[in-house]
Amino acid sequence: MSLNSEVLQWKYERFLINKNSNFNKKKILQILSAEDIDIAYKTISSWDNYLSTPLILLNKLNEKLKLNKIFYKDESKRFHLKSFKALGGAYAVEKIIKGNDKNVISTATAGNHGRSVAWGAQKNGLECKIFISEFVSESRAKVMRNFGADVIRVKGNYEDSLNECIIQSNKNNWQIVQDVAWEDYKLVPKLTMAGYSVMMKETSEQIKNEKISHVILQAGVGGMAAAMVAGIARYLDYIPQIIVVEPDSAACVLESINKGKIEKISIEKESIMGGMSCGEVSLVPWEILKNSVHFCVTVSDDYISKTVKYLANKEFSNEKIIGGECSTPGIVSLAGLNNDYETRKKINLNENSNVLIFGCEGDADEELYKKLLTE
Ligand SMILES: Cc1ncc(COP(=O)(O)O)c(C=O)c1O
Repeated sequence: MSLNSEVLQWKYERFLINKNSNFNKKKILQILSAEDIDIAYKTISSWDNYLSTPLILLNKLNEKLKLNKIFYKDESKRFHLKSFKALGGAYAVEKIIKGNDKNVISTATAGNHGRSVAWGAQKNGLECKIFISEFVSESRAKVMRNFGADVIRVKGNYEDSLNECIIQSNKNNWQIVQDVAWEDYKLVPKLTMAGYSVMMKETSEQIKNEKISHVILQAGVGGMAAAMVAGIARYLDYIPQIIVVEPDSAACVLESINKGKIEKISIEKESIMGGMSCGEVSLVPWEILKNSVHFCVTVSDDYISKTVKYLANKEFSNEKIIGGECSTPGIVSLAGLNNDYETRKKINLNENSNVLIFGCEGDADEELYKKLLTE
């Protein structure tokens, strides 16, 4: 099947309108302050080798979908870490360690966050202990070891690895640098979100005089999505339609928005989009997302390998893009939403729309990436 007929067949799984949406800039910036956002940008942009990641036009995909423009923020180029997570964990390590006597950093991770924390610990001369579940690939573990971390594999899923991390860290007086918040643990997750917001600062400058009409944000526990919402509040003087996309098997934001409160879901089958396979939205992101998201959408794993291939083979853009599994749902959901006439109308997607999508990671898991390319 040609690309033309192919993407025009793609479908989303579930779609939800947030009946509580009421974007309130002031409230959002009370949760993640403009000052925290500005300090993060000032700090990160002064790091060695800092560069804005490219904002690429998916002009060929747009020819099919018939919108105005599709912008793709390519986080495969984020430092040498190959994902936006480089902005969060490493920044939080640097900030939290100031005035702190702990010299061992710990975290639990699906991969990219741990890589960032390990990099941050290494940069700051600290030891690092990283807890991973049985679902995290050995190739991801190896990269974290290459950043000097001690990687500890825990039986079970991400939550089990986090529980073990908390137990061992409390016992050994290690500083946990986690991207998930819970009661009494909000400062570090806020720092990671402040770090992520650099993506929106860069985008607001790269977009020049264009206006973004729709932004599609991937969510795992919601940290990156909420950070982008805070970035929108900080850097844009208008409000695009904000759409959160999740794997259908792990739609904890959609379920929570539907109920108007945090809903924990049980994941029957882990999505290939490992970093987004999360059962519960984190506390701080929830405070931001609950009233600012306009729509939620979910996607299946069915189109991941095709999207990875199309990005690599220049079927969507003039240039080759290395996009890993978590870079695909923005594109898949956009095609799905656009192909459904009724939904397209509901979200006001049309030939005037400028859509912003985040290519959150490159071939961060090299083995999986190769598999997806050749599947
Ligand atoms: C690799 C990766 N991990 C995690 C996430 C989700 O981030 P969060 O858990 O902050 O919602 C994403 C978002 O796309 C991602 O690409």
